Amino acid sequence: MSDKQPMPTGLQLTALDPVFREDPREYLDRLRIEDPVHRDAELGRLFLTRFEDVRAVVSNRSLSVDPRKAQPDSYFRRILAANEPLGAFEPSMLQLDDPDHKRIRGLVSQAFNQRAVDTFRPRIRAITNELLDALTGRDSFDVIAEYAAPLPIIVIAEMLGVEARDLAQFKRWSDARSQIFNVARMPEQTAELAVARQGHDDYFARAIDERRVRRGTDLISALVSAEEAEDRLTQREIVITCDLLLIAGNLTTTDLIGNGVLALLKHPDQLAKLRADPELVPNAVEEILRCDPPVVQTGRLALEPFEIGGIEVKAGEAMTASVLAAGHDPARHSDPHRFDIERADMSHLAFGGGAHFCLGAPLARAEAQIAIPLLFERFPSLRLDPQSAIEHKRVPIFNGLTALWVHFA
Ligand code: HEM
Repeated sequence: MSDKQPMPTGLQLTALDPVFREDPREYLDRLRIEDPVHRDAELGRLFLTRFEDVRAVVSNRSLSVDPRKAQPDSYFRRILAANEPLGAFEPSMLQLDDPDHKRIRGLVSQAFNQRAVDTFRPRIRAITNELLDALTGRDSFDVIAEYAAPLPIIVIAEMLGVEARDLAQFKRWSDARSQIFNVARMPEQTAELAVARQGHDDYFARAIDERRVRRGTDLISALVSAEEAEDRLTQREIVITCDLLLIAGNLTTTDLIGNGVLALLKHPDQLAKLRADPELVPNAVEEILRCDPPVVQTGRLALEPFEIGGIEVKAGEAMTASVLAAGHDPARHSDPHRFDIERADMSHLAFGGGAHFCLGAPLARAEAQIAIPLLFERFPSLRLDPQSAIEHKRVPIFNGLTALWVHFA
């Protein structure tokens, strides 16, 4: 390997480095072969790239996600430190271990589950059609700004019971909030983040008070009603959960739809198969999640000495599990870089696993399964705009496009 460039370490692996961000697969493939449990001293973590290691770590319920339990120099602590200017750390379920995690997730899942999504499916289709109606008659448009971005925000806002007039404000807050995961953000992004947090918090606190007096059929009402063994969510826990549903669900679903539309436009043979057989739609969405996952990595923390891939992990040490690398592991998937919607083994770890498996997976899948085929059904002659470069977003952890211009042939 001596004739190759040195292995990227540190920040480069967080996708801030343009070379890595535009095409990380080559680096990840090399890491998986040469150093699959890579000790990233710069950022204080182990970086995992093999499917089996990533799966073992994300599904292990004795590992922690609580940054307060991490070693002082670990990656988890850096995220905490970066968020200090925002005030006291108030973890959502994403950063809580049992028993708090089990309790909150149990109560939230009473309100937000597969049944709630299935009931909402016709409305998702209607919202999708309305967005497409607005694009009819145009020569070209940006799939991200005018389709993939508004859809999830309108859907979750309607599910929560947010008024239509508050939608634009909601979108701005949610976009600013996505910087919460960015350890290297600019001071002005931190300031925007603080304003957005206050805006969200005040809005939801008011909405919860209203629902306590008069329940509706929306998700906030269901969260207010959720009860188990005489236990309920506090107002603050509901506010934090609503905020999490927005920051965890909007950008990610936008990226899933955007990455999917791009993959199909770049692979006309796969698009033709999808058009010929709509039953392939669920498979196609899983293949998009495997090949180009909207969240490229998740993390866990060892509370006790632990071993992964023959490497000893110390208590308090952080592990970053690259779900992007895991989805391209030739030990798991044959010809892993090939985009193939008829692949026999579609398994991926794009929604993480174990106790923290993405709670919004049914909603994200429903939106992508409706939005991607409907776009090509309504606009069969859609093509990539050859004049527009494909540019990736500059938010680490998230993997998506800033814009995707298409035109009609
Ligand atoms: C394609 C879209 C999405 C992707 C790729 C994605 C990915 C993820 C990942 C990787 C995790 C962490 C899992 C782990 O560490 O094991 C997660 C957790 C979570 N996601 Fe999603 N997500 C998506 C959409 C959504 C949506 C639409 C919602 C809700 C509206 C949502 C809500 C959540 C919540 C609440 C958690 C925390 C679960 C827990 O800690 O118990 N996600 N998601």
